[in-house]
Amino acid sequence: MGSTGSPSGMDKEDINNIAQKKSTKDPDEFSQYLIDRMHQLEEHNIRLKEETRKVESEKKFAESQKVKYEREVRRLRSEIERMKAPPLLVGTVMEELDGERVLIKSSAGPNFVVNISTFISKDEIYPGAQVALNQQSLAVVNVLPAPKDPLVHGMEIIETPTVSYADIGGLDAQIEEIKEAVELPLIAPERFEAVGVEPPKGVLLIGPPGTGKTMLAKAVANETKATFIRIVGSELVQKYIGEGARLVREIFVMAREKSPSIIFIDELDAVGARRIDTGTSGDREVQRTLMQLLAEMDGFDPRGNVKLMAATNRHDILDPALLRPGRFDRIITVPIPSFEARIEILKLHSRKMKIAPGINFERMAALTPDATGADLKAITMEAGMFAVREERDVVEWSDFERAIEKVMKSTRPSLESRNSGGVMFA
Ligand SMILES: Nc1ncnc2c1ncn2[C@@H]1O[C@H](COP(=O)(O)OP(=O)(O)OP(=O)(O)O)[C@@H](O)[C@H]1O
Ligand SMILES: [Mg+2]
Repeated sequence: MGSTGSPSGMDKEDINNIAQKKSTKDPDEFSQYLIDRMHQLEEHNIRLKEETRKVESEKKFAESQKVKYEREVRRLRSEIERMKAPPLLVGTVMEELDGERVLIKSSAGPNFVVNISTFISKDEIYPGAQVALNQQSLAVVNVLPAPKDPLVHGMEIIETPTVSYADIGGLDAQIEEIKEAVELPLIAPERFEAVGVEPPKGVLLIGPPGTGKTMLAKAVANETKATFIRIVGSELVQKYIGEGARLVREIFVMAREKSPSIIFIDELDAVGARRIDTGTSGDREVQRTLMQLLAEMDGFDPRGNVKLMAATNRHDILDPALLRPGRFDRIITVPIPSFEARIEILKLHSRKMKIAPGINFERMAALTPDATGADLKAITMEAGMFAVREERDVVEWSDFERAIEKVMKSTRPSLESRNSGGVMFA
């Protein structure tokens, strides 16, 4: 390497060498020497070029690394700044004053007139919007997304229940009616428009306990393509004043956002009981929730794509306002199953069981007057249990007989109280 110090690639020693060779008389030897030397130098040159290329690419790599690290340092610095920034206050917009200022209510209590950051577009600011405020100037620096209650979001049924229309016995007419009143307006609203009729706004399922009202709603949730939102009436009864009403409002907002949708309120009597003048503050809170529900029902278009369904086994105590046209204007009665329906339900519930040949379902239905769907399900289950207890793998007639006796005896008192209750209210 030392010999390559001079720019020409030669040094003193080289020049001396050449002079020496030149002084020797043999010109051939000298030219041979020069040619060899030239080759040597050319090779050397190539090597040097290669080395330059390598060093240059290393330089480029180091430079790009430097840029990368500089960027990382900048990012970490800004993260440190961000972490050190004072917290923002939360406020609610009360009124827009002029383009630049708004009246806000801070979470601390008092109202302020404050400036809006120019980075916020005007349409994001509306009365009621939640905003973030600078701590010192209280200027609006950010608009927060509308608050959503996780409770409301949990009500949307995502995993549909496994019940289908085919699992329901003896309620074909009711299923038809639900399809026509709930699903058809959602899928084919033009058919109603063509005839010029308004489809019912809400469908109320009424009937004694255990006759399959909740089951019907589950089947609708399973078979419909619309978003199905299920609420139990008692969930709307909340601890704090105004909370229930707020939940109702948010449920309807969500239903509209995710439309087409069906809102199903099970056990409607928990919030829909007749309003009375006297009552505890708890009663009044339930009534406020009911009023919000009525207001929401009035507020939406019957041909729109939100449908209401509800179920109750105490429709006699419902507030009459709920049943007015434009609210729950289609009432579907889910009756105690008839003789034929009982046969069908018994067959449905025992279709997965191993039963002895020749079991007479007609006879079983004849032995179970007044039994509801839930009773009949209990009978098939009990019969199965008798077979299991006796270590048989086939269910026999005697099992059914014993099951009928056991279940009918245990439900008899409740049947009687149901009837006497009916007399009391009549
Ligand atoms: N028509 C029916 N066909 C098949 N099974 C039925 C039928 N009716 C009721 N059942 C059975 O009874 C069970 C209870 O029914 P469901 O919960 O739907 O009653 P409900 O009418 O909602 O009663 P409640 O008024 O007490 O809420 C169901 O899970 C189902 O197994
Ligand atoms: Mg129910």
